[in-house]
Amino acid sequence: MAKIGLPLSEVQIKQVEAVIQEFSSLQLAWLSGYLWSQAQLISSQSPENVLVSAYGDKIVDDSTIHTDPLPTMTIISASQTGNARRIAEQLSMDMDRNGFNVKLYRAADYKFKRIAQEKVLIIIISTQGEGQEPEEATALFNYLFSKKAPELAQTHFAVFALGDSSYEFFCRAGKRIDERLAVLGAKRLFPRVDADIDFQQTADRWRQSTLSFLTQQFIPPVAKSDTVAPVIIDSSLYTRAHPFKASVLVNQKITSRESEKDIRHLEIDLADSHLHYQPGDAVGVWFRNNPALVNEILTLLSINEFTEVNANNAKMPIKQALLTQYELTQNTVAIVKKYAELSKNQALLAHIVTTSQAQQLAKLLPLVDMFRRYPSVISAEQLLSLLRPLTPRFYSISSSQDEVGNEVHLTVGVVHYIIDGHSRWGGASSYLASLNEDDQLDIFIEHNDLFRLPTDESTDIIMISSGTGIAPFRAFLQQRAIQGATGRNWLFFGNPHFISDFLYQVEWQRYHKEGLLTRIDLAWSRDQPQKIYVQNKLLEQAKDVWQWITQGAAIYVCGDAIGMAKQVELSLLTLIEQQGQMSTQQAAAFLAELRNLRRYQRDIY
Ligand SMILES: Cc1cc2nc3c(=O)[nH]c(=O)nc-3n(C[C@H](O)[C@H](O)[C@H](O)COP(=O)(O)OP(=O)(O)OC[C@H]3O[C@@H](n4cnc5c(N)ncnc54)[C@H](O)[C@@H]3O)c2cc1C
Ligand SMILES: Cc1cc2nc3c(=O)[nH]c(=O)nc-3n(C[C@H](O)[C@H](O)[C@H](O)COP(=O)(O)O)c2cc1C
Repeated sequence: MAKIGLPLSEVQIKQVEAVIQEFSSLQLAWLSGYLWSQAQLISSQSPENVLVSAYGDKIVDDSTIHTDPLPTMTIISASQTGNARRIAEQLSMDMDRNGFNVKLYRAADYKFKRIAQEKVLIIIISTQGEGQEPEEATALFNYLFSKKAPELAQTHFAVFALGDSSYEFFCRAGKRIDERLAVLGAKRLFPRVDADIDFQQTADRWRQSTLSFLTQQFIPPVAKSDTVAPVIIDSSLYTRAHPFKASVLVNQKITSRESEKDIRHLEIDLADSHLHYQPGDAVGVWFRNNPALVNEILTLLSINEFTEVNANNAKMPIKQALLTQYELTQNTVAIVKKYAELSKNQALLAHIVTTSQAQQLAKLLPLVDMFRRYPSVISAEQLLSLLRPLTPRFYSISSSQDEVGNEVHLTVGVVHYIIDGHSRWGGASSYLASLNEDDQLDIFIEHNDLFRLPTDESTDIIMISSGTGIAPFRAFLQQRAIQGATGRNWLFFGNPHFISDFLYQVEWQRYHKEGLLTRIDLAWSRDQPQKIYVQNKLLEQAKDVWQWITQGAAIYVCGDAIGMAKQVELSLLTLIEQQGQMSTQQAAAFLAELRNLRRYQRDIY
């Protein structure tokens, strides 16, 4: 085993030891993470292999790593929109080319009971919902956090966590699994890395460092390649990094004028892109910020729109940079704090004394209104230093390609709210709503194998959704019609009002009349004094739902993660408990087993 050179002098080691001698083990663990992040900061100035020296000799007790024979290394990715999965695929490819025996699993496919046998385990995981693990990792988490969780004395592990610092619980799923593995006795190879939405550079550097580290620790017998340069793998021609320029065929409002919601049906031409998708997949959309919003921000901050700036290594006028390169519609705690510091606005500083106050402000006040309520003059460069890079948004596909050919359909709810009398809009949804026929937009397909129709076409399906969550179910029924699938189809759908918010009403009624849609249960929450939601409808139909389940039906849930999906899960648990005459624990185990069997799938956001 190669020895990693000691990066500190003896004097420095003495100094460090003097400082840390009163630290508890928890404080030391924290400090190791802190030093790691400092190393990352430095590495952004000198990118070459800095992380290797950051490991130092002390992070791993290398006497405990088994080198003979070379252990199989397991990578697990837990992803919702593909980022973690892609990084895992790239790392797996790198390791394979360098002679490691590597096994790559998506969390949904990993037989979690074998985790105690893992010698080297690398987990790449995003955070979803409000700090939750991705849907596909639920079974693994349930197991690891249960009393049945095994001791992991043989396992060395590392975690790469993806997240978005605008969320309250940044990278929480990665943090939780990292801590839990350690509690179960596994040894950390090196500290967890948490990556924000502009994760690519961090991920590339982490991959290179991980590879260098493993190579030094384990010395694979035959490297298949002498290079560790990142390899980008993606099966499709057009990707997030290289999107397809599609054009709009139809952009139609499908809620009525009286509705409080503006929901659009978009038909997009894929032309000769050769892009393929399946029901359950999503489209990623790169959007442009609204010019009126950009103008308002520049005016509020007294910045000339032609001021030249450096954005993503290219010089351009600030107006162009704000239109195409930066997020302007999502505020974050980090932005609030940094703006307070830069502007020295006393009212703002007084308003965000605690982090929870800053969190509240970021949640309720968009950037533009923060600049308006707490005015200041900052430079163009300072403004850019506050902002985060633009990221694509995802929309579940509401068509079957077998039905619509070279088109892809989306169902988009336009985000709109009012602050101090000013209309404010979601970045991507309002951009999509503003597009006219023949307008072009940059898109890519995001495959989702964890939300798929049953391969056996005779299997019954129960589809549960509210609002735009109906999108993939339109694709499902189009597909089932084309296939002539014999399985029964049952739709639960909820929205505020029957008259104004029954999305794709004519299509569902036609499918029902033709017998394809066996049952439909609708929950109009505001059509009567008491609120009725899909979770209530499920319980109303408990006996029949249970019968369908016992006859093999697969259950699908799509739409709002926080409100709807949580309540639907509670209803399902109640229903299983009551109809199946089970205890609470038995009902939970039953639903977990349905999930394992891919008979309970969710596409929630
Ligand atoms: C896998 C997946 C599938 C999806 N499928 C669909 C789909 O089929 N249809 C669909 O419509 N969406 C879907 N979404 C959601 C979609 O991706 C976007 O998140 C959504 O359209 C909002 O994006 P936006 O850019 O319009 O809004 P953003 O620019 O992201 O603005 C949203 C932000 O506005 C702020 N905000 C909102 N309301 C208020 C308020 N009242 N007060 C203060 N601030 C507020 C908040 O900071 C919030 O984060 C899906 C998401 C995922 C991950
Ligand atoms: C609906 C939704 C909820 C999210 N919730 C969180 C969160 O609570 N905390 C966080 O750090 N990141 C959150 N994120 C950000 C994702 O973790 C981040 O975009 C990540 O890169 C996604 O990786 P994936 O494509 O592998 O799922 C959320 C993203 C989405 C779309």
